[in-house]
Amino acid sequence: MATGEIEEKRTVELSGHVGFDSLPDQLVSKSVAQGFSFNILCVGETGIGKSTLMNTLFNTTFENEEASHYEQDVKLRPETYELQESNVNLKLTVVHTVGFGDQINKEESFKPIIDYIDKQFESYLEEELKIKRSLWNYHDSRIHVCLYFIAPNGRSLKSLDLVTMKKLDSKVNIIPVIAKADCISRHDLDKLKVKIMSELVSNGVQIYQFPTEDEAVAEINSSMNTLLPFAVVGSSEDVKVGNKMVKARQYPWGSVQVENEIHCDFVQLREMLLRVNMEDLREQTHTHHYELYRRCKLEEMGFKDKGPDSKPFSLQETYETKRKEFYIELQHNEESMRQMFVNKVKETEAELKEKEKELHERFEQLKRMHQDEKKNLEEKRRELEEEMNAFNRRKVAAETLMGQALQGCSQQPFKKDKDKKNFFSLPSACSLTSGRHLN
Ligand code: GTP
Ligand code: MG
Repeated sequence: MATGEIEEKRTVELSGHVGFDSLPDQLVSKSVAQGFSFNILCVGETGIGKSTLMNTLFNTTFENEEASHYEQDVKLRPETYELQESNVNLKLTVVHTVGFGDQINKEESFKPIIDYIDKQFESYLEEELKIKRSLWNYHDSRIHVCLYFIAPNGRSLKSLDLVTMKKLDSKVNIIPVIAKADCISRHDLDKLKVKIMSELVSNGVQIYQFPTEDEAVAEINSSMNTLLPFAVVGSSEDVKVGNKMVKARQYPWGSVQVENEIHCDFVQLREMLLRVNMEDLREQTHTHHYELYRRCKLEEMGFKDKGPDSKPFSLQETYETKRKEFYIELQHNEESMRQMFVNKVKETEAELKEKEKELHERFEQLKRMHQDEKKNLEEKRRELEEEMNAFNRRKVAAETLMGQALQGCSQQPFKKDKDKKNFFSLPSACSLTSGRHLN
């Protein structure tokens, strides 16, 4: 059959029981055997009552580490628990924000939350894209719902709340709750609820709407949509009311019962979150939020459903195109790396040449200095030699004279006064020459 042609279907009667009517049962028993996972993200200021509400919701005591108000930035603390109710196993992950709202500069407070949510989507996508994938036993850590805790002691939403919810709304199902609702009067609570909803609408923040398509839950869900944000009270204290023990918060003037619908919306939240819409929250996460993340991510990676001519683009084609693009990019990178290397070599060569030139000049200068020095020394040596020669000549002359004088004295013992004078003047001539020699 050609693509696009509508296949004609005929309805036929069965003459007896075949058995495929057990398919829903098969699905149920398979799912029950596999177990379920549900992941809740609690976003709210330190000490707003996140842990207490979780304990109250699941009627248990989870690990409860108090956060300090001195965190440098916002962190996320996930804890996973295995729960069982009847024969249904639930792998529950509760993720708390730590240090939310405690920094002076809160501009980036939403970022770690977004990063955490994206990281869980990324892990799922990686598993999906593996050649050998095992999604059936994969621990799905994607956040199915975000309970956003709003402080009861204000007249409207804080900017931190608005900005964070705006950033989160395309990534997760948000259910806003007014925490510690026992701290606010009925009148103020009603006003606050109206104000919060109008602020969310005017700022275009999309919160989770309980689905009304399914007739079985349409009525309850639409009435619950009007109750948002839920005003909740949490408590781990059991108080005796009448002859029953109930979860409540006790005050000198009375007690606030967590499960009393007149006191707060805790029961409605539990009904909506766990009993009526848990599967819808899981489904919305997969079909809406994860789908959006996956689409953006694959488009970012270059995958397309349709080519430029609007024809369907096969995975093979996408792969080939991406491979070509990658190859061109690689070549381009290689070429620029080569160019960079050549330039570097040239630069180094020039530097070396410059250094060589400097060295050569220095050598020439030293050589010249050495030659000058040598010339000077030669000159001095020559002068000294000349002086030595002159001295030797004078010395010889003096010795000759002295020899002659001595000879004369031995032949004539009585000499004239004139000769005597000459004889005694000789040593002074000698001492003069030796004096010059010493200089
Ligand atoms: P961190 O994890 O430290 O950020 O705190 P948290 O948000 O988990 O708050 P937690 O549940 O530890 O509660 C902090 C304090 O608020 C405790 O003293 C609780 O008893 C109290 N508290 C919790 N829920 C409520 C509530 O609904 N009403 C009132 N009045 N107090 C509450
Ligand atoms: Mg806590």
